[in-house]
Amino acid sequence: MADTYDSLNALKYLNAVVNETIRLYQGSKMERIPSVDYVLKGTGITIKKGHVVQIPTFAMHRDPANFADPDTFRPERFLPENIAHNPYTYLPFGVGPRNCIGMYMVKWMVKLALVSLVQRYVFYPTEKPVEFYVVNGGLMPKSVFLKIGKRVWVQHLLWDGLDHCLCRTFRHKPI
Ligand code: HEM
Repeated sequence: MADTYDSLNALKYLNAVVNETIRLYQGSKMERIPSVDYVLKGTGITIKKGHVVQIPTFAMHRDPANFADPDTFRPERFLPENIAHNPYTYLPFGVGPRNCIGMYMVKWMVKLALVSLVQRYVFYPTEKPVEFYVVNGGLMPKSVFLKIGKRVWVQHLLWDGLDHCLCRTFRHKPI
């Protein structure tokens, strides 16, 4: 049997759910401060040394030019066979030599937590929408309403069946 690391990485739909969630609910911002005057090639625009450049990742993630039907939660767009976006339009962890050093760790932890929960419980969305507030140009959840039930057949659930189970879980229609 594969180890937990390989098994988690094999859960493609789970990975897509995490990627789609941080596309829609970007909670951190990205900025750069040039150490010298920097001319943007072909534009005639100079960014002065010391000026703060904010990269609007939240807006980029919800721009229909980058993601079709951008306000819809659709994990399928992050399945390997469907990925169609320019990688520089999706920056939840930044990019380049100063990107997030915690990216792999945090994604792995989130997936492990979700798997542990979905193995034990069934989650049903409710009609009550999640409420958010804005902080640092990103969205933070104020309240999340879910109905939770115990999953009784969990001891028979094999890793192979888990991605299918996650797929059903995250596709549930509101009740
Ligand atoms: C979902 C969780 C997280 C998100 C969305 C996130 C996002 C980001 C973003 C957008 C940046 C700026 C990247 C850039 O400017 O290109 C960043 C930087 C950074 N993150 Fe994270 N992060 C997360 C979790 C973590 C964790 C768990 C750690 C540590 C264990 C971590 C450590 C860092 C550090 C040290 C930097 C600065 C890197 C540098 O300036 O060289 N992050 N993160």
